[in-house]
Amino acid sequence: MFEIVKRDGLARIGVLHTPRAKLETPALLPVINPKLATVSPSELYHHFGFKGLITNSYIIRNSETLRERALAEGLHGLLDYPGVVMTDSGTFQSHMYGEVEVSNEEIIGFQRSVGSDIGTVLDIFAEPYWTEEQTAASVEITLQRTEEAAAMKGDMMLAGVVQGSVYPRLREDCGSSMAAMEVDVHPIGGVVPLMEQYRYRELVDVIVSSKKGMSPARPVHLFGAGHPMLIALATLLGCDMFDSASYAKFARDDRLMFVDGTARLQDMHGLECDCPACGVHDLESLRGLPSKERGAVIARHNLYELKKEMARVRRAISEGTLWELTESRCRAHPALLDGLRRVGDHADFLERHEPLSRDGAMFYTGPETLGRPVFQRYHQRSRHRYQPPFAEYVQLEERGKPHGRYQGEDFQSLLSQGALPLVRTVFGAVPPELDEIYPLAQSLFPGLSDGDAETSADAGMESFVAAHGLARSGKIPAGGDYDVNALRAVAVARYQFGDEAASLLLDGPLELVVSRKTGKIRNVLVAGEHVLSMRASDGFYTLRPEGAAKLIGGLEAPTMRVTVMDDAVPFNREGRNVFCAFVSDCDPETRPMDEVMVVSADDELVAVGRAMMTMDEMLAFSKGVAVKTRDGVPSKG
Ligand code: GUN
Ligand code: ZN
Repeated sequence: MFEIVKRDGLARIGVLHTPRAKLETPALLPVINPKLATVSPSELYHHFGFKGLITNSYIIRNSETLRERALAEGLHGLLDYPGVVMTDSGTFQSHMYGEVEVSNEEIIGFQRSVGSDIGTVLDIFAEPYWTEEQTAASVEITLQRTEEAAAMKGDMMLAGVVQGSVYPRLREDCGSSMAAMEVDVHPIGGVVPLMEQYRYRELVDVIVSSKKGMSPARPVHLFGAGHPMLIALATLLGCDMFDSASYAKFARDDRLMFVDGTARLQDMHGLECDCPACGVHDLESLRGLPSKERGAVIARHNLYELKKEMARVRRAISEGTLWELTESRCRAHPALLDGLRRVGDHADFLERHEPLSRDGAMFYTGPETLGRPVFQRYHQRSRHRYQPPFAEYVQLEERGKPHGRYQGEDFQSLLSQGALPLVRTVFGAVPPELDEIYPLAQSLFPGLSDGDAETSADAGMESFVAAHGLARSGKIPAGGDYDVNALRAVAVARYQFGDEAASLLLDGPLELVVSRKTGKIRNVLVAGEHVLSMRASDGFYTLRPEGAAKLIGGLEAPTMRVTVMDDAVPFNREGRNVFCAFVSDCDPETRPMDEVMVVSADDELVAVGRAMMTMDEMLAFSKGVAVKTRDGVPSKG
């Protein structure tokens, strides 16, 4: 069973509960060759802290000594490893060397008998050069074998590998067929050739199309991905597990892995690393070691580098900075940059998982940043949900953020003359009412712009003006007083909740409580009732129970709702969080961090809070918090 602890977009920090032990994700599982372990499993666990590893059940089964020992002592005894042991099935050997002499049934049975924690189906490794027909036929067999394995897995968790090569349709279909089966982990298979050939653009397509089909409640393993430079990108796209054989393979060829690429020992001019393995050496002493010992030092270096990157990625998820980290990592190699640029083509899918806001500011690190889903969201909502107060506009250049603090007087003057000031930004046109919301105010751009950013600003301006049918005005700022906050209260509500909800919420005489220190809106009262509060940090609203009461009658279900089962209602009424297991329905448009109303099966208001997940996730997970409840609503009866 898998549980999300923290998430940023598709990326997540999670816990995979296996019967033996827990595995925190994102996790890197070092590959152990049962015949020659460069670094012992015990050291991997106790010293490096790798709480899971992967080994090959096919190799163990083919060696009489290993097989007998594994059957007698179990894998954990054989390897002397207390953590989570995942086993592969021989599929990769068939990819490398042709047919394997084992059936799916036999290898699943064997993995069970030796006590594997996560066994793998004998899937068919679909090669990237296969035709679509050939691939489709092989996926059918993989699916049949997964069915067969699921029926005999017993206590063992099962990895059902998503294949389908570079064909998005086949990937997605394979993913959704797997989602319907009793499997516990979803590896994405058949990607090693893409990674070896630096085809990262296709890799991105493969990950996204596979993810679209899969159950969001199962961890995704990217089979054969074990270079630190790829971890951030793959995690950003929703991969939770990785395996690395390269730490040992590269070490045998005197190659050191770094987050920005691989260095050959022979090319180095100094040992650029002070990890515990490198730290005791200088370049000369390392080069002087006999090859086996040298390989062992480099393998440990590679493991330290991987371990560090895993921790770095986890921190980025928890801070909400994984985009920035990924953008920086992907500049290490043009092929990775290709992958990053491709991510922008999947903004629709990514936007569904994009949080309403983050704690820190968004950084513009280069033109690829324009592919982030926040840009897409702003374009859409500012065109479809915003309503301009006037038919004429004046274009202003950006002077600082939030705009109102730097050009508030110009705003007031133009508005009092009946013209809408629009600030031209890289996000597009920003009207005064929206200048405080994330990421418009919470973003940093370099002072020296670039061509793509300028094009984006022009195009954004143009499409905004066209969408609202605005005409350019000849007016210039010339003094005057206008209350922008009255417009802001409405515009932010429309942007955040949509037109219908905004009208219901703000129907009546409006009164704003404004911070005396900052001049920002704090509370919105309608006919004396406090319906919304505005957060200073991201410029969005939190919904108050009084606001929810205004919505519930007029806004048709399931909009803005999370429906919980009867058992949970009394707890949520007391203000306790909503757990996934008790969610029966949800608004499909829910984004992480959205304000939601928690309702009972007969649509009575139970609580208000913040969604932590999308609808698909709430319905698929059996564990974890779906809504962080802010206020419980006592029963009327
Ligand atoms: N190891 C690397 N790629 C694969 C794959 O596609 N399937 C399996 N079972 N193992 C792999
Ligand atoms: Zn090192």
